[in-house]
Amino acid sequence: MLEKDIERVLVSESEIDAICKRLGAQITKDYAGQKPLIVGLLKGCMPFMAELIKHIDLYCEIELMGVSSYHGGISSSADIRITKDLEITVKDRHILIAEDIVDTGKTLDVIVKLLYHRGAASVDVVTLLDKPAGRVLEFVPKYIGTVIPKEFVVGFGLDYDEMYRNLPYVGVLKPEVYKK
Ligand code: PRP
Repeated sequence: MLEKDIERVLVSESEIDAICKRLGAQITKDYAGQKPLIVGLLKGCMPFMAELIKHIDLYCEIELMGVSSYHGGISSSADIRITKDLEITVKDRHILIAEDIVDTGKTLDVIVKLLYHRGAASVDVVTLLDKPAGRVLEFVPKYIGTVIPKEFVVGFGLDYDEMYRNLPYVGVLKPEVYKK
């Protein structure tokens, strides 16, 4: 049913699987000997984070923060809202933020600065998708699943108007869906 609204698949289920395995192995290697705190930014991070952590072979903690910038449209706003804050202290912790997409870079600019302000020892980012053509603020994620062109994508956590997050792949939404 959802598939009829998708113009084309950009990152398939098998590609996402391979990305999570590759990133998980790299993170396992890079954080060896540490106990990182993996912070997912809700809601988009959900499927990616769930798949990624299966491939991280470390003692690590998982926490979630609710952050929202789109407010229903197809472009992110400057209004970054924390809808659910962390419930633990991050002082002296090595933090790895898990994101579904880095677009303008505004969300991570705010959250990375906030976590350092709270005393984190390090803050790095793993993202399934990087859309560098959308950048407004300079931001380079440390771990990138795949780079995508400047198109509006949904699926595997990414939404349009809160729908399509449950698609098992990332696809380009037909423009007529959001022009209705
Ligand atoms: C999306 C996505 C990132 C952010 C990226 O979240 O999950 O957090 O936008 O965009 P940016 O680089 O332009 O800031 P959104 O605000 O749509 O909330 P959601 O995760 O609940 O969908």
